[in-house]
Amino acid sequence: MVPSRSSARQSTSGSPSSIPPSPTGPGPANERLVGEALSPYRGEVVIATKFNLLFDENGKAQGQVSRPEQVRSAAEGSLRRLGVDTLDLYYLHRVNPQVPIEDIAGAVADLVSEGKVRHFGMSEAAAATIRRAHAVQPVTAVQSEYSLWWRRPEEEVLATCEELGIGFVPYSPLGKGFLTGKIDETTAFADNDIRTTIPRFSAPARRANHALVEKVTAIAARKGATPGQIALAWLLAQKPWIVPIPGTRKIDRLQENLAAADIELTSTDLDEIEAAVATVAIQGARYPEHLERATNL
Ligand SMILES: NC(=O)c1ccc[n+]([C@@H]2O[C@H](COP(=O)([O-])OP(=O)(O)OC[C@H]3O[C@@H](n4cnc5c(N)ncnc54)[C@H](OP(=O)(O)O)[C@@H]3O)[C@@H](O)[C@H]2O)c1
Repeated sequence: MVPSRSSARQSTSGSPSSIPPSPTGPGPANERLVGEALSPYRGEVVIATKFNLLFDENGKAQGQVSRPEQVRSAAEGSLRRLGVDTLDLYYLHRVNPQVPIEDIAGAVADLVSEGKVRHFGMSEAAAATIRRAHAVQPVTAVQSEYSLWWRRPEEEVLATCEELGIGFVPYSPLGKGFLTGKIDETTAFADNDIRTTIPRFSAPARRANHALVEKVTAIAARKGATPGQIALAWLLAQKPWIVPIPGTRKIDRLQENLAAADIELTSTDLDEIEAAVATVAIQGARYPEHLERATNL
C-alpha cells in the first residue's frame, strides 16, 4: 500500500531536541503529547511513530533494539502512551547492522497479525535492506532524508520503493530550515540544536550554501511562492507516492508549508530548478560522522 497524500493527515511523534529525555527516553514524552492532542480525532488521523533506541530509567541511551521481544515491548509502550489500540504506521528508526533485518521484520509481522500494528515503515534503510525486510513483512513507507540539497535516495532507494510499491516520506525536506531562506551565516542556534553539530551548518558552509537558497528564492519569486514552498513542491513533483513531512512549531509556517501542495511546477519549472541546483556545489556533510554511520546507507 502506498500512502495517499490526500487521505492521510499524518502526525509523526518524533524526538525534537527541545524536549528533555524522560525516564523512558525522548520519544515517549512526545507520544504522550501526541496521544493527548489527537484523542478527540481518533479515526480521523493516521498516527505514525517509531522504534529502535533503548533508554534506561534515567533517559540514558542504552543502544538499539536487537531482539524480537524488545520490538514487542516498544510497541506496547507506544500503544499505551498514545492511548490507541493500533499503531497505524510503525517505523524502524534505524537499521541495527548487528541484527538480521528479517528478525526485526518478523517481530513486526507478529504485531501486524495481532492487530497491534497496521503498517511497517523503515528509516534510512539501504535498498537491499528494504528488499529483505519487505520479503518478510511488506513495507508501507520509507522515511529518509531527501531535499534539494540531499539527493542520495535518487541513487537506489527511490527506484526500489517504486518497484515494490512503497511510499517514500522525505524528512528534513526544508533542509532543516535552510532552504526556506530564513537562515544565513549569522543565524545563532541554541546549544542543544542538532544543527550546531552538522558540518553543513557551520558558518562558512552556510555562507557558501546560500547560493542555492538565492537561486531557489529567484524561482520562487517568479511563481509567487516562498523558497520553502518551492523546495516542498519540487519533492511533491518527483513522484505521486512521495509525501514530505516538513516540521515547524509555528501555525503560520504550517499553513505556508501546506499551501505548497497547491503549487504546480511545470516541466519547464522543474528543468529550471534542476539547472539552478546543478550550479551549486553544497559544502559540508548532512550529518556529523557518528550520525551518518548510524544510517544504513
Ligand atoms: N527519520 C529520521 O531519522 C528523522 C530525522 C530528522 C527529522 N525527522 C522528521 O522530519 C520532520 C521534519 O524534519 P526537520 O524538522 O529535521 O527539518 P525541516 O522540516 O526540513 O525543517 C524544519 C526547520 O525549518 C523551520 N521551518 C519550517 N517551516 C518553515 C517556514 N515555512 N519558514 C521558515 N522556516 C521554517 C523550522 O523552524 P520552526 O520550528 O521555528 O518553524 C525548523 O527549524 C519531523 O517530523 C522530524 O521528526 C526524521
